[in-house]
Amino acid sequence: MNQYSPLINVMIGAAHKAGRNLIRDFGEVEHLQVSLKGPGDFVTKADKKSEKIIFEELRKARPHYCFLMEENGEIPGNDTSNKWIVDPLDGTTNFLHGIPQFAVSIALERDGVLIAGVIYEPITDQTFWAEQGKGAFLNNRRLRVSARRNLNESLFSTGIPFIAHSDKAKALFQKELEAIMAVSAGVRRFGAAALDLAWVAAGRYEGFWEAGLKPWDIAAGIVLIREAGGFISDINGKPHMMKSGTIVAGNDILQPELLSILQKSAK
Ligand code: IPD
Ligand code: CA
Ligand code: CA
Repeated sequence: MNQYSPLINVMIGAAHKAGRNLIRDFGEVEHLQVSLKGPGDFVTKADKKSEKIIFEELRKARPHYCFLMEENGEIPGNDTSNKWIVDPLDGTTNFLHGIPQFAVSIALERDGVLIAGVIYEPITDQTFWAEQGKGAFLNNRRLRVSARRNLNESLFSTGIPFIAHSDKAKALFQKELEAIMAVSAGVRRFGAAALDLAWVAAGRYEGFWEAGLKPWDIAAGIVLIREAGGFISDINGKPHMMKSGTIVAGNDILQPELLSILQKSAK
């Protein structure tokens, strides 16, 4: 039985409370799907409500910490060493379409270092969490990245650019996909980057790559991958994922291979 630290307890408490609310709203989306108006406005409200719940829970527990939240941006606090980084609903497009692949993601950055992460998948009640130096877990089970060593047995996950992305980003992605398709056992696109990262930490995927991500999409996942013994970098092989929005993750053997194939495909 795992003893949560007070910090992880606070983070999981907030994620679960927001998650319970998202489950209720998801049920409503399933009804609205067939209405003429569609669930768009409702989902925007669900997203904001989830963020409000997380903000209130975290503020109550740690009144002076700062925030970076997807919907409300930077919220200052007196304690400038500590910053919560929050995605209140990752996988919004899935949620909007009644697809049950979405999550809540909460990370804590202390003095510029990501030290704790929680990714909660409400529908399956799976809590992925990690704390610097203490390991990564799914509920109470310790996580390790996959032990697979061969590209041809490896399953990768990614994010496909969509209408909001530039033509350049779309063209680059096509080259990357072509290169990975040619050498791997498969590529998946499930639509929630936080869960993609959690699933690499859990050894389900051998690797994950995506560009155009925001800090709240990846902050908690970065802690999970590192604590599960994985490697992670941006597309230049540098640890600047949060700034560049590019990310390449995997185990110690396959992350460098994935990175090198992606870099070559861009040339
Ligand atoms: C999105 C998801 C998706 C990724 C997008 C993100 P949102 O986050 O993580 O998998 O491909 O780039 O914006 O909008 O659902 O919170
Ligand atoms: Ca997101
Ligand atoms: Ca979101």
